[in-house]
Amino acid sequence: MKYDVKDTALAQKGLDRIEWADQSMPVLRLIRERFEREKPLEGTRIAACLHVTTETANLARALKCGGADVYLCASNPLSTQDDVAASLVKDFEIPVFAIRGEDNDSYYSHIQAVLEVKPQITMDDGADLVTAVLSDRKDLIPEIIGSTEETTTGIIRLRSMAEEGVLQFPVMAVNDANTKHLFDNRYGTGQSTVDGIIRATNLLLAGTPFVVIGYGWCGRGVAMRARGMGAHVMVTEVDPLRALEAIMDGFQVVPMAEAAKIGKIFVSLTGNKHVLRKEHFEMMADGAVISNSGHFNVEIDIPALESLSKGKRVVREFVEEYLLEDGRRIFLLGEGRLINLAAAEGHPASVMDMSFANQSLAAEHLVKTQGELKAQVYPVPPEIDQEIARLKLASMGVQIDELTGEQKTYLSSWTEGT
Ligand code: ADE
Repeated sequence: MKYDVKDTALAQKGLDRIEWADQSMPVLRLIRERFEREKPLEGTRIAACLHVTTETANLARALKCGGADVYLCASNPLSTQDDVAASLVKDFEIPVFAIRGEDNDSYYSHIQAVLEVKPQITMDDGADLVTAVLSDRKDLIPEIIGSTEETTTGIIRLRSMAEEGVLQFPVMAVNDANTKHLFDNRYGTGQSTVDGIIRATNLLLAGTPFVVIGYGWCGRGVAMRARGMGAHVMVTEVDPLRALEAIMDGFQVVPMAEAAKIGKIFVSLTGNKHVLRKEHFEMMADGAVISNSGHFNVEIDIPALESLSKGKRVVREFVEEYLLEDGRRIFLLGEGRLINLAAAEGHPASVMDMSFANQSLAAEHLVKTQGELKAQVYPVPPEIDQEIARLKLASMGVQIDELTGEQKTYLSSWTEGT
């Protein structure tokens, strides 16, 4: 079996942590048990490009129990947990190509390595596999049943491929399922981003001017959690509706040019590029801390920061001090990469449970509907979304009510009024 991980001797630690995460993933476990019995993915080659974490390991286990041959590479050079990669190889015989801190060449060669297996399903977090197939491995297209996509940024890339007519197979938009983005993007990113910033810096949030850039589901989550720890949270936005929502959620909304002057900690979650740039660095106070929790490391214009600096040094793990020509210091966290996965462990297992339940069922759906779908971006069927919500509630021991017959009639009729 071919693989490329840091050190298989780390496997035991990885296995212990994978099993720990599994305890908080009851929905995925139920799917794994059903997959084990029914083998809906029998013989399907799945190449997955995901953050190599304990939670992803449990997804890979579920897919393998369903009969798939799973091959895994990283969706970010800094998010791989080497002990997990080791355990997947040693304990689960799942080939992994990922090493924490790998350089760009190694990152892309690992993507090519999983494509070597001629996958029938690709599973992406950021659309890197699909992009690689459509750019340099078009020969693989005939065998591909479809793809699944985990994140907002990936969906944006895929929709633009579909609009330009270059997408060649169906894609399931896992991110857009309610049981994914309403929980993973909001509560998962909310908690893990604050966790990453704190683990990297050990700064006190109480009373600290904290700037959240972008008020999508991820930004909402971070703003809410940072406020919970006493930070003075400001939001910047380009979308009037989202800005209004932030105001009515109780946050101060300011333009970036204002926020840059008064913020102490900045975190960007926009999915766009250069939202923190030269003009902002020029205004920031000495000691400003800047970070990103958006998918790609393009949100902070690091080359511009370099160009303003006369030196840089690592002052603690995940914290790089940039010394500007005028003597001010700006601290960049986690090389501008997803801070929740670089300095912390990503979203907790309990939310990834629903995200990866969606991934597993989306893969099963692709196999079941093989040949029926077009080269488009498809939503996860609402029945799957509902079922995941039901199973999650059941795992929590929470019961909910049912509509009475009279209520169902009332809701479906337009004649009944007061
Ligand atoms: N994305 C965010 N958090 C994650 C996690 N814990 N595992 C995999 N992907 C993630």
